[in-house]
Order: sequence, then structure tokens, then C-alpha cells
Amino acid sequence: MTKRRPIIGGNWKMQTDVESGMLLAGDITDSIEACENCDVVVYPPFIYLQAIDSVLGQSALVLGAQDIWHESNGAFTGEISAEMLQDIGVQSVLVGHSERRHILGETYEIIGKKVHASLAGGFQTVLCVGETLEQREAGNTLRIVLAQLKSGLEGVSVEQMQMVVIAYEPVWAIGTGKTASPEDAQSVHKEIRECVRGLYDEIVADTLRIQYGGSVKPDNAAELFTCPDIDGALVGGASLSADSFNAIVTAACSS
Ligand code: PGA
Repeated sequence: MTKRRPIIGGNWKMQTDVESGMLLAGDITDSIEACENCDVVVYPPFIYLQAIDSVLGQSALVLGAQDIWHESNGAFTGEISAEMLQDIGVQSVLVGHSERRHILGETYEIIGKKVHASLAGGFQTVLCVGETLEQREAGNTLRIVLAQLKSGLEGVSVEQMQMVVIAYEPVWAIGTGKTASPEDAQSVHKEIRECVRGLYDEIVADTLRIQYGGSVKPDNAAELFTCPDIDGALVGGASLSADSFNAIVTAACSS
């Protein structure tokens, strides 16, 4: 089986301030030096991206953005384009996070456009998918997750798939302290990979990295990372402390 390099993302959401963000990034930078086996990305709020970039130096820590707008410029009040993100050294972009789908009302159509804008901008593009509790309880987990996946990847080429990462984040597990069991997470990850195998080919499916997200913490990370189709994590709450985030990175590095 293809050995995939784990990827850990820290999604800071609308948290930190300029000083605490710079300190946090500095602490992560120091500790990931020892970790050569995994990719580590932080997604600070847009407004702090440049400040955070200034502490990364030559570090392997990658700078990411929590969102992108799909037009390149113009009258789009409050939005940030691919060119602007390129300008300040961003390399990875989250698209379709559940808070954007469910709180900000982003549609499948908008998310699809953002995936294309992000890929055209040359960014590693992390497409987030996941079902709500209601959808899970109605037995619709796979229907929803695979619909989000197929819609988000519509028109994405085999070559572009090299820049795509999928984050499976069950909405009911985000910020709630509830984590999907490793078995439940693994079964959805496997279905995502099989769906990609059908849409593309063996190589794309076997090299695609699929992160799990939803209350990942130091004490549940190692077990999740033993699952064959879980290739890392997208971490919210636990990414706001260097100690807990670094412990998750270490667990991924030794998985
Ligand atoms: P959480 O958030 O780790 O706080 O559950 C994960 C996410 O939303 O990416």
C-alpha cells in the first residue's frame, strides 16, 4: 500500500490576537524541527497572516488561509483573492469548512468555484466535507459526504488532484469534545478513497491524503492515526495551544 505523508493542520478560526498568534506560531516552529515525517500547516485569521509569516522564517511550518474568494479582483467587499494570498506567502487553503457551509451559508456551487480558484492559484487545497448529526442519525452520512466530495471535485483534473487534500469533519464532532470512533472515521475515509478511485484512478486514490477533523486531541490522535485511511488531522481547539498541537504532530510523525 502507498505510504502517505501525514498532514496536520491547525485551524485557528476566529481566535488568537497578533501577539498570541505570533507566540503560538513560534512555539510550533521550534518543535516541528524534529518532525521530518509529516507536513504541518497553520491557518491563522486572514488579518494576522503576514505577522505569522514573519515568524516562520526558514521553518517547515506552512502558512495556510481559512478561506478564499473565487474572483481574482473587483468589488467584493470583505473578500480575499488567490492573488492576495499568493502575495503574502500562503501555500495552503481550506475550502468548504462546515462553519462556512452551515453558518455562512456557502453552497455547493460557491465551494466548487473556490476549489477551482484555489487550485488555479497553485495552493494546496483542503476540501472539507462532513455530515451533521441529523444527517448521520437519518442514515445519510455517506450520501451527504460523497455528494459534497463529488460536487467539490467537479472539473478537477487528475494533475490538480496532486494538490488536493480532503478533510473529513463530522459536524457533530467539531468543537463538541465528541470524536468519531476510529472505526466510524475509518469507514468514511475508506468510502471517500473508493469514491475518488472511481472518479479518477488508482494512483490518485492511493496518494490522496484524507485528514480527520472533529475534537482531535493529544489523547485520541494516536489511535485515529493507526487507521489505514486516516492521513492526519485538521485540528481546531487543540491547535490553539502549542503543547497540545505539538503532541498531535508528534503522534502523526510516529504513526
Ligand atoms: P475542533 O475543530 O478540533 O475544535 O473540533 C476542528 C475543525 O473545525 O477543523
